[in-house]
Amino acid sequence: MKKIIDRFCETKKLNKEELKALLNISEEDREYLSERAREISVSVFGRRIYLRGLIEISCYCKNDCYYCGIRRSNNNAERYRLTPEQIMQCADNGYELGFRTFVLQGGEDSWYTDDIICSIVYDIKKKYKDCAVTLSLGEKSYESYKRYFESGADRYLLRHETADNEHYAKLHPAEMSLDNRKQCLYNLKEIGYQVGCGIMVGSPWQSVDTIFEDLKFMSDLQPHMIGIGPFIHHKDTPFADCENGSIHTTLVLLSILRIMFPKVLLPATTALGTADPMGREKGILAGANVLMPNLSPVSVRKKYSLYDNKICTGEEAAECRGCLERRIQSIGYEVDRGRGDYPDFKRS
Ligand code: 5AD
Ligand code: FES
Repeated sequence: MKKIIDRFCETKKLNKEELKALLNISEEDREYLSERAREISVSVFGRRIYLRGLIEISCYCKNDCYYCGIRRSNNNAERYRLTPEQIMQCADNGYELGFRTFVLQGGEDSWYTDDIICSIVYDIKKKYKDCAVTLSLGEKSYESYKRYFESGADRYLLRHETADNEHYAKLHPAEMSLDNRKQCLYNLKEIGYQVGCGIMVGSPWQSVDTIFEDLKFMSDLQPHMIGIGPFIHHKDTPFADCENGSIHTTLVLLSILRIMFPKVLLPATTALGTADPMGREKGILAGANVLMPNLSPVSVRKKYSLYDNKICTGEEAAECRGCLERRIQSIGYEVDRGRGDYPDFKRS
């Protein structure tokens, strides 16, 4: 196994057999893979972790993805949307806490017209000139993405979820298409965003073949950010009875991604922290270099429920910033206070 890992570190390429071997790796060998990946993240970023303040602006969504708790058919979901004023209050609070990137994430909610989104982005960027704004608002037209970019947005997160057509069709209703998703990601790159794609690990019907397709797609797209976390079932979705994704496999994949994409911005996600109380720390030690603490008002956090038992939704989590800083320090890393752009990225 060490041979496969060493060769992979040299070539940054994996064939399907090698990927299969890595996905079936023992705990012990995973430790070695982790070390090799960690070496790379430390050589590029030092022992420094970027923080992103996550503002969950709306849990209304016009889509109906089978895995997601805020899908439109979930009548049990309690819906909310934040006003532009509330979003600015979250940013104010976040700036005070030291955040220099704000991520505005939400379901596909047409209440937020392009004009409204542009004015929110513009206002935050005008008020906080040393901050980056990341959007994560789903599939939009080329023109809409371009307008957000011209209003000042810097980055866009849109997980592709799976790069395999058949698998995509098992996770989404027929009105959604992988081709459109991929086109959105290429459009975002062309416009000049730092772009993030990603998958859930252990989503129903995921296999070595689909993950192999994901790696191929990512090699082609060359994203600046990759978001992965374990699939966690949500009780009010068609996948309520599906098994959760494994922490082990998520950690293996984080390391694989770090080795393939040395400079990529790679978060240890909230889903990983939900699946394992030490998940985010383990993620960093496997090669991740970003954490995304929640900045949403505590009163709405439980309602932004993509999966069951999400962490940081209680009163005690009002201040994830301090909690995460302590966690980062406990493993010998520190918080980086900058914007945390992709290394050497120049905005066009
Ligand atoms: N488990 C884990 N992650 C999920 N997401 C949505 N539903 C779930 C779930 N049940 C992820 C998707 C989406 C991101 C915002 O959250 O990958 O792109
Ligand atoms: Fe939210 Fe620890 S990160 S409480």
